[in-house]
Amino acid sequence: MKGKQERKKRAAAITALLVLALALSGCGVFHKEEAAQEGGKVDERLRIQESGELTVVGFSQIGSESVWRTANTRSVERALSRENGYFLLSDNARQRQENQIKAIRSYISQRVDYIVFSPIMEEGWDTVLEEAKQAGIPVILMDRMADVDESLYTTWVGTDMTKEGENAARWLEDYLKRKGREEESVNIVILQGTPGSSSELGRTKGFEDVAAAHPNWNILDKRTGDFTTAKGKEVMQQFLRRYQDIDVVVSQNDDMTFGAIEAIEEAGMRTGAGGDIIMISFDAVKNALEMVQSGKIDVDIECNPEQGAYIDDVIGKLERGEKVEKAYVVEEKVFTRENVGEYLDSRSY
Ligand code: AHR
Repeated sequence: MKGKQERKKRAAAITALLVLALALSGCGVFHKEEAAQEGGKVDERLRIQESGELTVVGFSQIGSESVWRTANTRSVERALSRENGYFLLSDNARQRQENQIKAIRSYISQRVDYIVFSPIMEEGWDTVLEEAKQAGIPVILMDRMADVDESLYTTWVGTDMTKEGENAARWLEDYLKRKGREEESVNIVILQGTPGSSSELGRTKGFEDVAAAHPNWNILDKRTGDFTTAKGKEVMQQFLRRYQDIDVVVSQNDDMTFGAIEAIEEAGMRTGAGGDIIMISFDAVKNALEMVQSGKIDVDIECNPEQGAYIDDVIGKLERGEKVEKAYVVEEKVFTRENVGEYLDSRSY
């Protein structure tokens, strides 16, 4: 991996190229103001790259669809701060894969030291990651996975989404048993996340694998609520219009759960302890944990967004020329009314 010395040499080479590009911009290639603006940004990056003091990271985030996502972005910004030796270039892709690809290409052309990104969906990354590989820029995948050859990325930091889905189903098994309802027919609907994302694929698979062993669990329907409160509510309203006898809602993130609970309450029903519908959620953000405590959500399967420190750690290792693992799985818990009190106060997101 590149050390600071090598980076300095490379910076000197690209300085010449960028100075040439800027000179050309003065020859009518760009408008004067744009050139001046861009010139300012490039000057800043050049200064940093030349000094070799800061590690330049290009970060492509999916968007800001959920409370979880905002916490995840903050975690990266906190860890990859100037004080910690980084110059962080960030881009919010606003839920579009093409925006992520554009951002990654721009980081490649700026010859950043590392690219960190959370792939919105698993498919469709081969070409751009091949370009990063050809440019010699290490790619660190975060949160979600990309379905590509392992040689196209250096490492992945994230959570075990399939395990999260399994944990949800295991909790339901146990709960029905405790209530003496394990033989009863149970009607389930699933509010899914972004189609084709690791979080949607993993949580669906994990839950359905366990459900397959329970012939009395009827999965009535599964539809995407795009990981947002508004869409979660809309899809829950559709489920309620279509099915009279829903026993369990499996909602693949807290934001959709907030929307689903609104829809259920507006329909005159209640979720959670002593209610009409069992509510299973994922993420475990503070507002949702408060609902676990008050009994509106039965169980919240944690998805831990605090992944920035792992990225910092991995980059540190790479800078020192140390070997890194191909995957780092972030630890997580399962929250119910019984244990949530211990964690609620310290939850910052
Ligand atoms: O990939 C992680 C998921 O993405 C979180 O569960 C969800 O809230 C987010 O938008």
